[in-house]
Amino acid sequence: MMLLDGARLAGVELTSVCGGKGNCGQCRIQVLSGDVSPPTPAEKLILTEMELINGERLACCARVRGSLKINVPKASLLTNSRLQLGSNLRAISAQPVIRAHQVEVAPPALTDRRSDVERIVSGLAYGSFRAEPAVVRHLSSMARTCEWRLSVYTRDSTIVGIAPPKSPPLGLAVDLGTTKIAASLLNLETGEELAVAGALNPQIGYGEDVISRLNYVQRHGDGARKLAEMVGETLDKLLAHLLQQVGSERHQVADGCLVGNSAMLHLLLQLPTIQLASAPFVAASNAPMNVKAADLGLDTSPGAEIHILPCIGGFVGADHVAMIIATDMDEVDQVTVGIDIGTNTEIALAKPGSGHLSSASCASGPAFEGAHIGDGMRAASGAIEAVRLHESAVQLTTIDGVPPVGLCGSGIVDTIAELRRWRLVNDRGRFQKGNERLRQGRLGPELLLVPAVESGSGRDVVITQKDVNEIQLAKGAIRAGLDVLMKATETSLDEIEEVIIAGAFGSFLNIESALDIGLLPCFPNAVYRQVGNAAAVGAKWALISRAERERARQAAAKAKYIELTSYPNFSRLFALGMLFPADDQLRIVRP
Ligand code: FES
Repeated sequence: MMLLDGARLAGVELTSVCGGKGNCGQCRIQVLSGDVSPPTPAEKLILTEMELINGERLACCARVRGSLKINVPKASLLTNSRLQLGSNLRAISAQPVIRAHQVEVAPPALTDRRSDVERIVSGLAYGSFRAEPAVVRHLSSMARTCEWRLSVYTRDSTIVGIAPPKSPPLGLAVDLGTTKIAASLLNLETGEELAVAGALNPQIGYGEDVISRLNYVQRHGDGARKLAEMVGETLDKLLAHLLQQVGSERHQVADGCLVGNSAMLHLLLQLPTIQLASAPFVAASNAPMNVKAADLGLDTSPGAEIHILPCIGGFVGADHVAMIIATDMDEVDQVTVGIDIGTNTEIALAKPGSGHLSSASCASGPAFEGAHIGDGMRAASGAIEAVRLHESAVQLTTIDGVPPVGLCGSGIVDTIAELRRWRLVNDRGRFQKGNERLRQGRLGPELLLVPAVESGSGRDVVITQKDVNEIQLAKGAIRAGLDVLMKATETSLDEIEEVIIAGAFGSFLNIESALDIGLLPCFPNAVYRQVGNAAAVGAKWALISRAERERARQAAAKAKYIELTSYPNFSRLFALGMLFPADDQLRIVRP
């Protein structure tokens, strides 16, 4: 058994963004005692000789041969990440799908032998209602426990749940990301958000990006069920955590809304994926759906359903539609670009008047999550999140202000912007030969950011040539996506009036650094707005408002899907997107 699997069995979840292929370096642990297999070639590429002598190993490569004592660095723990759960977008008023009725009826008697359902329906103010067997099972016992004084939750003409009197109906909103899951519990009557929680997507262990996971499902007969169940279990744990925070019960959860990219939704719903994994990347369905919460493994009100927002096409999914409604991109009065940067980056471009709303999805990969970066890590305690280079010093800020352990996405972008600003790398991303600030590392030239004696891990923290190239690949994908969208909609840089940056990484991104490395082009007339997790906001809106569900449906139908890889010159645009701005386009040195 691999150490990674052993740790999982022991309840220790290690980060494994490459899915255990031995190339992300995120599952690093230290063997203190016991017998493991010798280092593999993959480990020798990632770990130095000294690290191997110290017992450092990649948990996905080391095979367990007996009892072991290991040290797990904080940076390798899956649960240690900062999650972006909030946003700064407007609130809307509730117009829920679920209604709560307060019912008080007489108990059964020899002179009144109506069924339990008939009795409860007689206490509702209007109409005829039906209840499914799962609801009836719950209803009969709850009615007696509560002596026929109840809160009855209905959806249209269906009873979906029963709770003690004066229990407000609750709803679960979920943004199911490729890497992270954000969940909220809301009061469906008032629309108030009661609690928030987040977790990493447990499917990460089976592939860092959507294509790896889709391939996993193709290769393993029970892969689809396994990946769906593990997300269901995580969602149910998140729900338990949310309910615990507010002291409410599962039977109060009467509705849900979930968003995610097309691949995440296909995997969750166990839809066919073969056609999504290869060109022309077609979804099995883009339509909105309602699924039984119980079918996803959620313990809720027995009749509760989870509404899945519609997708647009290809990998542009319901999370993008949720972002569109939350940022009002379907109703803009100025030319607007919306970007949600993640392992999969979605971009929308909206033009008022013309009715244009176009969307694309780029495979930007997890480099901005710290994966494939030698000293990269997730945005967790000890991650370097901001960097400034001075003449002879490096100024760093870490999450929680503790000694630095590695670089998270915003820190990596900052570092590369500083490297470029100090001309330590050229516009092609090559380190400048012979510069005295650089040193020769195991993999070529590198910049030392933190010496081992000052770091939280006891190891040097460096940025290498390979790290720079990884970021170039990620930014190349995003820039190519943006360039194609602008060409496809005949939009020039100076026409863009607003740039909305959504998502966790985008929230902490230094816009100036993003411009300095050309991750974003310079839009001369644009205002930049960092909005937080807009997809999660869209999910919450669609949870509490029937009108927002309809609006999402219309936005998805209106949006035009642009497939990037088939666009003429895409490869050239990708290559150009990898370049950094030329020296004469670089901003003036910041004070
Ligand atoms: S290197 Fe072990 S999971 Fe990636």
